[in-house]
Amino acid sequence: MAPQLAWIGLGNMGRGICKNLVEKGQLDKPLIIYNRTQQRAIDLSESLPPGKSTVASSVEAAVSKADIIFTCVGDDAAVNETIDTALKGNVEGKLFVDCSTVHPDTTDGLARKCEGAGAEFVACPVFGAPAMATSGQLICVLAGPVASVEKVKPYTKGVMGRAIVDFSGQSSGKATLLKVIGNTFILNMVEALSEGHVLAETSGLGTDNLHQFIETMFPGPYTAYSTRMISGDYYKREEPLFAVDLARKDARHAMALAEASGTRMKNVEVGDAHLEQVKKHRGEAGDIAAIYGAVRQEAGLKFEN
Ligand SMILES: NC(=O)c1ccc[n+]([C@@H]2O[C@H](COP(=O)([O-])OP(=O)(O)OC[C@H]3O[C@@H](n4cnc5c(N)ncnc54)[C@H](OP(=O)(O)O)[C@@H]3O)[C@@H](O)[C@H]2O)c1
Repeated sequence: MAPQLAWIGLGNMGRGICKNLVEKGQLDKPLIIYNRTQQRAIDLSESLPPGKSTVASSVEAAVSKADIIFTCVGDDAAVNETIDTALKGNVEGKLFVDCSTVHPDTTDGLARKCEGAGAEFVACPVFGAPAMATSGQLICVLAGPVASVEKVKPYTKGVMGRAIVDFSGQSSGKATLLKVIGNTFILNMVEALSEGHVLAETSGLGTDNLHQFIETMFPGPYTAYSTRMISGDYYKREEPLFAVDLARKDARHAMALAEASGTRMKNVEVGDAHLEQVKKHRGEAGDIAAIYGAVRQEAGLKFEN
């Protein structure tokens, strides 16, 4: 019999991953889904094939019936709150898997709390934009006790993701340490693209000409973000794909880790200052790609292209 799965947190990432779990996860029971704003869970359940999911009305209800509980929520406070609520019940023998991007100390703390309550814990942060979550193309980073990680693998490569980075047997915080450092590459990429496109416009090269080079030289995420910039997607969508607050949380973690380790990430500091401008201009609807708008403003151009 396949384990009973539950998924907590149906944001941009969670919704796409759940779709892949029910389609390819070889589940023999409906996936239990829970979200703080329940309507999101109801809407997702209605969009999935009939009988493939059930909506839980509380964290406790989701956890009590599940063997493996995945969490994917906004930030450190959110996941701590979720796990603390979960651990109020009997969790003996259950396995918690956190896919949120959080500080490695938070991850190690979650592992200690779960293990202290007789449960297992695996960290499984993911790389990839929401579109990759929907298409099952994420990269999953797995860390925690070997036997626990083995129980999670069947839901990663070929289901929610296209590949895994395997840190089996290492402390779970190593997975989120990689995730936080890895996300600085995304921030720096968006920063480089933004500056490049602004110079392309102001120097007379033209953004379409620069985009042609990017498509040829850097297919993949560079091209995807470049397209979001020149098409105006970075400011037009009401719901962000990679919310400014989440991007700033990741940058904060990276800068704190750098400071604690005796180094600095000056590129991240520059990116974060632009994210601050994005938040001022767009509020919570701001997206990491809107760094382009902030760099445009610095060059005397309008935020919106
Ligand atoms: N977006 C990306 O490109 C991306 C890529 C990789 C990893 N990640 C990481 O994956 C996680 C989820 O990202 P996302 O883009 O899916 O975020 P999102 O769309 O903003 O959704 C956030 C989710 O967390 C829930 N949440 C927030 N605060 C909560 C709290 N205090 N208690 C309970 N639930 C809470 C939200 O519930 P409500 O619906 O009630 O607000 C929602 O389900 C984050 O850690 C993010 O850094 C994101």
